[in-house]
Order: sequence, then C-alpha cells, then structure tokens
Amino acid sequence: MKNPIHNTKKEKVLTGDRATGQLHLGHFVGSLQQRVKLQHEHEQTILVADLQGLTDNGHNPHKVSSNILNVVADYLAVGIDPSKTTICLQSAIPALSELTMYYSNLVSVARLQRNPTVKNEIASKSFGSSIPTGFLTYPISQAADITAFKGTLIPVGDDQLPMIEQTNEIVRKLNHIAQDDILVECRPLLSKVPRLPSSDGKSKMSKSMGNCILLSSSEKDISKAVKSMYTDPKHLNVEDPGQISGNVVFTYLDAFHSDPSYINDLKARYQKGGLGDGTTKRILEECLQDLLKPLRERREIFISDKAQLIDILRIGSQKSQEESNQVLNNVKRAFGLNLFNL
Ligand code: TRP
Repeated sequence: MKNPIHNTKKEKVLTGDRATGQLHLGHFVGSLQQRVKLQHEHEQTILVADLQGLTDNGHNPHKVSSNILNVVADYLAVGIDPSKTTICLQSAIPALSELTMYYSNLVSVARLQRNPTVKNEIASKSFGSSIPTGFLTYPISQAADITAFKGTLIPVGDDQLPMIEQTNEIVRKLNHIAQDDILVECRPLLSKVPRLPSSDGKSKMSKSMGNCILLSSSEKDISKAVKSMYTDPKHLNVEDPGQISGNVVFTYLDAFHSDPSYINDLKARYQKGGLGDGTTKRILEECLQDLLKPLRERREIFISDKAQLIDILRIGSQKSQEESNQVLNNVKRAFGLNLFNL
C-alpha cells in the first residue's frame, strides 16, 4: 500500500483528543507528529473532544473545562498551524450531538459492550454497575465526529482501532438505509509508535499517576521521570547482560532518538553487558530535553494569550458547523425526517 502521507489524492484527515489533561509524549509520537506533516498535504480538522472527555467526568467537569485551552496550546506548540488545520471544539458543533442521536439507533448495547477499548476502560475505571450511558456510547459519538467531516484518514494510537471499525459499521448501515453513499468509510493511520508505554512500563500514561512526560514538563520533571524509568530489573551491575525487551528506556530511545544505528549499537552493548542504566538514561534524557525545550517555550507563549486560543477555536468551530450541518441534513433525509426541508 502507498504511504498515505505521500498519496497524491487529497484526503480528509480527522482526529481528536479528549480534553481531560495536557498532551504527553504518547500523543506526540502516536499522532501529533503525523498531523503536523499531514496538514501540508491534506485537508485536516482536529477536534478538541470536550464532550467525550465528559463521558467519564460528568461529576468532575472542571477536569475537562480547564483543559480545553491547554490542548489547543499543545497543538500550536508542536506546530499545528491553524491557517492550515481547522481546530474546533466538539461541544460547539451541535450537529455532532444530533448525529450521535441518529446513529445510536443503529448500534446495539451488546455491540458497544464488545468494543475492546470500551471494555478495557470500563474494567480499569471501576465504574461498577454505574457505567455512565455517555461513556458506553462514546464510540457512537466518535463515529459522528469522523463522519460529520467526511474523514477518510484518521491518525490515532492503536487503542482507537475499534472506534474506526465501529464507525465504518455505522457508515455501511446508514448508506444502506439511504441507498446512497452519503457517508464515507475511513481508515486509521498508525504511527511507528502506536502505543508508548508509561515510564513505569506497567500502566496507562496518566498525569495523576506521575508516570508520563507532558509536552510542558519542566526540565526537572523530565529528568526525574527518566531517572525513575523502568529498565531491566535483573540488570543489577554494569557488567551484567541486560534485556532490551520491556526496557522502557530503550523503547523511548527507539521512539525519540534521531540516530537509529547509534541506538542499535547501544542495544548490542547493553545486551552483552558493560553498559549501565545510568548511561542509557543520560542519553535518553539529553534527547528528550532537546526535543521538549523549544516546545515548552513556544507553549508558554501560546498559553499566555488565552484570547487568541479562544479565537482559534471559535473560527474553527464556525467553519466546522457549516461542514457538519450538511452531513446532518443528509442523515436526516435518509431517515425521512426532513419535513421542513432543512
Ligand atoms: N477517542 C480519542 C482519544 O481518546 C479522541 C477522539 C474524539 C477522536 N473524537 C475523535 C479521535 C475522532 C479520532 C477521531 O484520544
């Protein structure tokens, strides 16, 4: 298959991020880097998914509202350019909620419960028997996000693959009802690092658990995170042979270091014995400090101008309303609910 980034046909790139925290290195290698490239070759819309963020924070909405502008500042800091990419706010686009309502009639509860990502999240969030309806149904809302913008290429981490599959099921069902291809199917675009482990190598990255490096992390926090990274627990002395597999320092070096042949040499030395974790961590720290310093500095400037961030979202959301209303009208027509000929 042709590399979609270099495909000559223009794609509609659509993706989003839950506004439940600042973006971290997992977002960066999983999808943000790709988006910066894609915006030069394709038409791209990025959603700040505040409504999706609420699906497990209904009783703690501040976690979402206080992070909307953080996410926009993160986008700008990595190089997403609002003159090339439409950045919009999910809650400011009513067609997305309306589409969710229509699509929800085409998806069974059992199908939602079978979605592997939803299943894992439900297990890890310990909702007990109180799973919020919005949480169980968020894959439907994500299908609304994607289809409302006729997204064809979706840069995401691998945990999002089940969402894409569910979206395409909805597309096929709706097109069947409409007897016309009113919605378009999409495909994922995975990066070379579709899932970056947390620094403890065990759990999901989460700011509250202190196991992730944010794009805005200070020099000191980066240093601390690298020093406490999980390596090979059996590699006690420098001369001992060490293991690469499961060694988070090497996973990060693979993801972030610009010289893969140098990293391969390091791996060989580490496996043979004679290379200490202190050294590999120092190399990783230097590489991450170099990567994040300019990013952090740009981000500080953007976050200090809240009015500008709000304007970017407002303009992007207005444009997105027009686009998504057209799709909504077609869907209403498919169900025969366009009595007023909207
Ligand atoms: N579920 C995505 C995440 O957790 C966020 C998201 C919302 C999204 N809408 C989307 C991703 C549409 C891709 C396409 O990060």
